Amino acid sequence: MDKSERLRVLGVIKEHIANNTTADAGGIMRVPMSDFTCQQLSAQEQDVLFRNTPLCMGLSSALPEPGTYWSDNETGIPILMVRDGEGRFRAFANVCRHRGSQVAPEGRGSKARFMCPYHAWTYGIDGRLMSINKKNHFGNVCREELSLFELPSAELHGTLWVRPAQGDPIDEAECLGGLEDEMAHWKLADFPFAHTQVIDAGANWKMAIDTFAENYHVSILHAETVGKEMKANVQTCDVFRNNVRFVYPNQKLDLMRFLSLDMERWPYPQIASTLYYLYPNVIMVIDTFGVDLVRIFPLEGSPSKSRTVHTWYVSPQMEPRLKEAGYSYEERVSRFRDVIVDEDYETIAKIQLNAERGIPSEWLLGRNEVALHHIHNALRSGLGRDMLPVEEI
Ligand code: FES
Ligand SMILES: [Fe+2]
Repeated sequence: MDKSERLRVLGVIKEHIANNTTADAGGIMRVPMSDFTCQQLSAQEQDVLFRNTPLCMGLSSALPEPGTYWSDNETGIPILMVRDGEGRFRAFANVCRHRGSQVAPEGRGSKARFMCPYHAWTYGIDGRLMSINKKNHFGNVCREELSLFELPSAELHGTLWVRPAQGDPIDEAECLGGLEDEMAHWKLADFPFAHTQVIDAGANWKMAIDTFAENYHVSILHAETVGKEMKANVQTCDVFRNNVRFVYPNQKLDLMRFLSLDMERWPYPQIASTLYYLYPNVIMVIDTFGVDLVRIFPLEGSPSKSRTVHTWYVSPQMEPRLKEAGYSYEERVSRFRDVIVDEDYETIAKIQLNAERGIPSEWLLGRNEVALHHIHNALRSGLGRDMLPVEEI
């Protein structure tokens, strides 16, 4: 996000605060609760959105150097991501070509080769089958034809993308359409990996995404926690194809207004958090401390359960200062968890139960919940479903 865009966004926020307004969808939207409970829809989402769509998996520093790997099962397909000997990001189905065992253990690390734990077939970091244990029992099978199945992957301006099904290469515009320069400007590849955690919720994965995409609720649900720092019900919303950027100001912005400081001198990341919804399942939060990448998945094939994988990448400017001050990365991540678990996800778990009871039959999204309008319709469009109309009021 370059300086002129930051200034434009701050100008919009300043106007909203002065006029007591926020980003406006121009009408309300009704979302049927069956979108959160339908088993058939859930199966379609798993196939179309989580198998055949490029997914943002993380930032480049998750694989910091050649020879590092990251094995991740959250999409529903075991995926082995590596940085090969030439430093190229590549992804494979983490499935042995002998009898289908998972080859690399889950997690991140550094390895020259992977030995399947079942019968010890061994693969290189580039996915090639290096050796077959007791090869004489396999006749003339051709090792070269038994590499791990490679999956389409791309490293785009410091972000790592994988499509969990084999097929055409990933199209950058499909992932970041319109956001390429903005992502490049953040220099995301420079943000070191700091910490990761998994949070399960008793609610549909789209409901979990929705909790991040409006700040209408922060002074209410989060009154005793983050609501003390953030401003409520004032945000921007800009759409980039399937993706959305929304900026949330915090209370420090009032100080800038109070001091009548020239907007050019407002310290952007300290007074506003920049959030992106990256289609279909990622929320990226950029603030003065770094990047929180939040990947949200359906869990166990159920429309009623979801899994959030939260990874924090620390700001390269802040890292030395935080280390010197003895700042605990674990503590920061667990504070994030407490708010999400005790406030957001506790609330949506109750909504999920009510959705399954059929009350209410639909959500009413306000004009101020504008990013949610877009997210629900982008997902519907991706699945070939009817778009929800905006009802002018
Ligand atoms: S399943 Fe991997 S070596 Fe047998
Ligand atoms: Fe929240």
